[in-house]
Amino acid sequence: MRKHIVAGNWKMNNDLPQTELLITDLLKQNQTSDAEVMIAPTFTNLWQAFESLRQEPIEVIAQNMHFAENGAYTGEVSASMLKSIGIKTVILGHSERRAYYNETDESLAKKVDAALANDMRVIFCFGEELADRKAGNEEAVVEGQIKNALFHLGADAFKSIVLAYEPVWAIGTGETASPEQAQDMHAFIRKTLADKYGNDVADSVSILYGGSVKPANAKEIFSKPDVDGGLIGGAALKAEDFYAIVNAF
Ligand code: PGA
Repeated sequence: MRKHIVAGNWKMNNDLPQTELLITDLLKQNQTSDAEVMIAPTFTNLWQAFESLRQEPIEVIAQNMHFAENGAYTGEVSASMLKSIGIKTVILGHSERRAYYNETDESLAKKVDAALANDMRVIFCFGEELADRKAGNEEAVVEGQIKNALFHLGADAFKSIVLAYEPVWAIGTGETASPEQAQDMHAFIRKTLADKYGNDVADSVSILYGGSVKPANAKEIFSKPDVDGGLIGGAALKAEDFYAIVNAF
């Protein structure tokens, strides 16, 4: 059985008091589903969030990291730094990182390697832009992103990798891929994995959908056989909405 996962990507939202407030609210919610729950606060609030949730079934994860272990990379944070405060999972390749900070498949491959070398789990994000979909190129784009950043890995590495399909045109826009569009792409992603690594690996990797998931649409999206969870932006900033999504399985 693949794991169900619902991860909240807080992006550059919530200072320390706001982080503490939202965590207090999250802890008032009831979980009725079997999903693994994660939140990704900003770097400055990771330690506080980790301490507050140490005994709770909510994993605190990072939004990004650098590929180097240490050195002259002003403003950056490494995998071992994250690990030293208890963080075991990192989001890599979010479309905002690709668009605003020039992250490429090549630099992401190095980040994935660094995370795995530090025994961290990776939520690897990718997805096509609107122009790709309009041109009918969405599958080719997604296949390229996965192959370029991940296909140098051995099959075993996929025990530590979660995939997150996030069509760029659906992120923060209120526009969601239809459940059928999500399912079609997730099935394609799984086939891409199966062609390279075999069915056992492909069937074991959780594939999350991200892009304007809300309490109102989560149930239908999560009901699709190849959708194993969600990466949630805006709706993760309200505890009730986030748990309505967590409980949509
Ligand atoms: P959204 O963001 O839910 O606000 O569309 C999703 C994401 O960027 O991971």
